[in-house]
Amino acid sequence: MNPAILQQALARIETLGAISDTPGALTRTFLSPASRKAAEVVMNWMEELGMTTAHDAGGTVRGILPGTDPTRQPMLLGSHLDTVIDAGKYDGALGIIAALSALEHLREDGVQLAYPVHLFGFSDEEGVRFQSTYLGSRGILADDAGETIIHRDAEGRTLDEVLSTEGWHEDAIEFSYDASSSSGYVELHIEQGRVLEEAGEPACVVSAICAQARLRITLVGMADHAGTTPMDLRRDALTGAAECILAVEKIARKSPPLVGTVGMIRVSPGASNAIPQIAELTLDVRHPDDSALGNALLELHREFLEIASRRQLDLQWLEVQKNGAITCDPDLTGQLAASLTRITGSKLSLPSGAGHDGVVLSKAMPIAMLFIRCRAGLSHHPDEYAEPGDIAIGINVLADFLKHRTLP
Ligand code: GLV
Ligand code: MN
Ligand code: MN
Repeated sequence: MNPAILQQALARIETLGAISDTPGALTRTFLSPASRKAAEVVMNWMEELGMTTAHDAGGTVRGILPGTDPTRQPMLLGSHLDTVIDAGKYDGALGIIAALSALEHLREDGVQLAYPVHLFGFSDEEGVRFQSTYLGSRGILADDAGETIIHRDAEGRTLDEVLSTEGWHEDAIEFSYDASSSSGYVELHIEQGRVLEEAGEPACVVSAICAQARLRITLVGMADHAGTTPMDLRRDALTGAAECILAVEKIARKSPPLVGTVGMIRVSPGASNAIPQIAELTLDVRHPDDSALGNALLELHREFLEIASRRQLDLQWLEVQKNGAITCDPDLTGQLAASLTRITGSKLSLPSGAGHDGVVLSKAMPIAMLFIRCRAGLSHHPDEYAEPGDIAIGINVLADFLKHRTLP
């Protein structure tokens, strides 16, 4: 590969990493001003490569590179444009940038693909704004049989309200894919774990993506005076929440590979001299096995009910989102693995504990993923980092895969 392609990819990672809604930290959430700017930058890069670009009202962008055979179904590539709060630069962005670089690499080598490539930058994979993930990839399916978005954003707005007031409506089109309009989806992503680093491998294919549930828990007690209310007469929602959070840790620790996280808590009235009346928390629970996840949720719910009743608190338990585990497509993954072996000699395959847009797209098409090693497995953190040499390997694997892709 021409070294300039890698240099361009690295510069693009910095460019997208600097487009943020918050000064001094990287944050781009669904339909935010920075997300729109990042989407426009990516569309420009797509156009420089000769792609025809489009976007939908939700801020997902697409570039189409035609193939030489118009009868062939398109191959979908991509990743997500959004980030968590105070994010790293590689989660999501790298997958879009590496796909652009792989296509550039093929063009420089004079390789013309027979099939069209549709490259996506999805507007929401992290689910920060609505706590419900994959709004971007769900938006491109003809039949989105996913759950309705029941939660509101931090300003109390529904998804429909946000779409109508902040949506990217001018020149928007609706994407609509099903099994007959795509031959598959392939995504490159950082591993976000430590296995590759410990194995001394730069990359691997992904075998499966684990099941996950996201919940919104509300505990309601009674606000009262912090100086005058005796400890045994309090109905403190926050101490109840603290006990629930420790229960999550206890239950998850005793049953690996179950993981459970309370990532956000909001307390009201929120004054130093008032007993907390309401504690609202997010709960994220994951397991590679659907029934183990279901059992863990039942156990957590029972434990939360016991804590709430002992402390005379009301408990609201709301499942915002639940996805079963998915298996990556064996045929497509086999083709990606063959490219990985050709480039690195490795045959490594790992399951993903993180969620990815492929979870949604697998409802309509075969999916496969390539993981790239990231330093110390660190992700969802500003120090997230992938070595340029590993990124180059990822670009080469992707280009090799596209070149050798055989259709079923
Ligand atoms: C996305 O990064 C997720 O797995 O939460
Ligand atoms: Mn991601
Ligand atoms: Mn992420």
